[in-house]
Order: sequence, then C-alpha cells, then structure tokens
Amino acid sequence: MIAHDDARHGLYDALFRHVLRRIEPERAHRLTVRALATAHALPGGPALLRSVFGTPDPMRDPRPSRTVLGAEHRSPLGLAAGFDKDGEVPLALLDLGFGHVEVGTVTAKEQPGNPRPRSFRLVADRALVNRMGFNNHGAQALAKRLARARRSERGQRALIGVNIGKSKVTALEDAAEDYRFSARLLAPYAGYLAINVSSPNTPGLRDLQGVEMLRPILEAVVQEADAARTRFRREVPVLVKIAPDLHDEDVRAVAQLAAEVGLAGVIATNTTIARPESLRTERSMIERLGAGGLSGPVLAPRSTEVLRLLRATLPEGSVIISCGGVTTAQDVRDRLAAGADLVQGYTAMIYEGPTWPGRVSREVGPLG
Ligand code: FNR
Repeated sequence: MIAHDDARHGLYDALFRHVLRRIEPERAHRLTVRALATAHALPGGPALLRSVFGTPDPMRDPRPSRTVLGAEHRSPLGLAAGFDKDGEVPLALLDLGFGHVEVGTVTAKEQPGNPRPRSFRLVADRALVNRMGFNNHGAQALAKRLARARRSERGQRALIGVNIGKSKVTALEDAAEDYRFSARLLAPYAGYLAINVSSPNTPGLRDLQGVEMLRPILEAVVQEADAARTRFRREVPVLVKIAPDLHDEDVRAVAQLAAEVGLAGVIATNTTIARPESLRTERSMIERLGAGGLSGPVLAPRSTEVLRLLRATLPEGSVIISCGGVTTAQDVRDRLAAGADLVQGYTAMIYEGPTWPGRVSREVGPLG
C-alpha cells in the first residue's frame, strides 16, 4: 500500500505543479467537487473510488474503531468545514479515507458570499488565505441533500458533522434565532452540530465569542439538539468552533461556558487573521491579497497551544477536535497526544491532493 501511496501522491504532485496551481483556487475546488460527485454517481462509483484511494468498504471495515461523539471512528482524521459547504459530496469524501466529514458552514438564509477572487494560495507556505464569506445555498437546501444521502444504510452510518453560521443579513442581536433556525432543520441529519462563531469573513461574527453574546446562541442550539434527541431517540452532540486569535483567558471563558451549557466539546481552531513573521511568502504579496483567514502549517503552533489550554480547562469527557495546520501522520499523533479526540484538516488536502486522507489515515491507524 505504501508503494501505491507514493505513486498516487507523485501523480497528484505533478498535476498540482503543472496544472492545478495555474487555475484560480475556487475554480480548481469546484472542478474537484464536480469530479468527485460524478465519480460517486457512476454505477459502482463508490467502490471504484475506494479501490483507487485504498479505502476499506465502510460496511465491512475490519479495522478497530474508537467511539467519539457517539459514533465509531476508524480514522481520527476528518475533513474540516468549508470544503463541502453545501453537502454535495460527503459520502465521496469519506470514500477517500476520512474518518468523518464536517459539511457547512451553512447559514439560515442562502447567500452569495464575498466578491471573487476570495481564495488565494501562498504556495511557498503551503497555506491559503480566504475571505469566502459563507457562500452557501442555505440550511434548507443542505437538509434536503443530507436527507437524500441518509436514505441508504451506508448514508445512515456515515459520520457527517454539520457546521452552522450566522446569515450576513441577520443582526448580531438576533444571532441566536438565526442559529436556532438552522439547528432545527439540520439536527435530524447531523452526526454532530458545530456552531461557527469564528470565521473572520462575516462582519462582527467573531464578537459572538464573548460569553454574553455566546450564551444564548449555545443555549438555542442545545435546545434544538435536545428536541431532536426526544423526537429521533438519537443524541446530537453540539460543539463550538473557535478562533486561534482569542486571548488565552477568552479561550478558557468559552470552554467554561461550553461546559456549563452542556456542549459536547470544542473545535479548535478556525483560520487566523494574523500574518505571522514565520511566513515565507513575500510581505508585499501578502499585503496585496488583503483581508481573510490564513490556514495551513503556519497555524499549527497556536492551534496546538489552544488545544492544550482547552484540555486543561474542559471537564473530563469533553471532546476536542483539533484543527489548524495538520498535514502529516505525525501531526495527527501529536494532536492526539496533546489531548485531541479527533483531528481535522482542510489546507493539506489542497496541497497534498485526494490521496492525502487515505495515506495519513493508514499511517496513523484507527486509534492514533
Ligand atoms: C475554511 N474554513 C472554514 N471553517 C468553518 O468553520 N466554516 C467554513 O465555511 C470554512 N470555510 C473555509 C474555506 C476555506 C477556503 C478554507 C481554507 C478554510 C476553516 C477550516 O475549516 C479550518 O478550520 C482552517 O482552515 C484550519 O485548518 P487547516 O486548513 O490549516 O487544516
């Protein structure tokens, strides 16, 4: 399998260097999602994808698993939110070898996001800057797609988390009801709900991380998750996703609030608005790109610090999903050793290609 991995990775590397990096990032992303959707819809498509990417059949997977958030994970590595915003290809992404996939962010109201271009590669850093601004088809459209995906036995078992955010047109004071609307529609189909209050590209959104603003939002979503549990006799764990730019005391305050309100855990972290000195890309180029969230390996030190802070603050049994700069199998092991229950990545998938989740999952093993 390792020799196959090298060959597959080499192919993607050549494709990235000669073709993909010349295409505008958002277009390359659309092409990838479309190719995945097409391959998955072919008769025998899912099995074909799994054989190409070396992923076991999920219905007959012999690997041991670890139970997190009420589900059996055969790899600790999941795909972070933002790649499959509208839930177009969650099952195909699982066929690439991810243990779980977080779809979204979706908002209560469909919205176009910011003007393009709004996603940029910093190739020298294997990093991205994006200011997408929650372009998405809305919570209702996602609920319909997930209902369809959940129809099969495979779909019912698939580990799909759902990330929800605030609609741009909704005032910050009305945020709780906006999140509640999405949570009510999506809880029935969500392996877990992630409350996103940390994207830098919706004006004021990150202010919602202050405990006074945050409490009613968390409470509203937990109420909807509880209602879904009563109706469907299934737990819907709720997590909050935070920014790496919070001060340490604010990270602790959010963790304490999360525990008080009865959240299952925290996802840390989202992208950063900082532009660290350690970046190799020229300053003038970084400045030209303008505002947006930075992701990739440069995020790893702060993301790991936040993980340790959370582990020291949250009560035992709380779940932490660590995200930010995870690229290698060793990165995954390090996050698990630092107290993460699961790990997610996004930017590495862009630079390493579709063989990345399978390769890293095989190297890490199901239990890390
Ligand atoms: C993201 N991310 C993101 N997060 C989120 O909660 N909702 C979203 O809609 C998006 N959208 C999004 C788009 C793009 C283009 C990127 C690069 C990232 C953030 C993502 O889920 C993750 O938290 C960060 O990117 C850090 O992880 P990586 O990319 O360093 O592995």
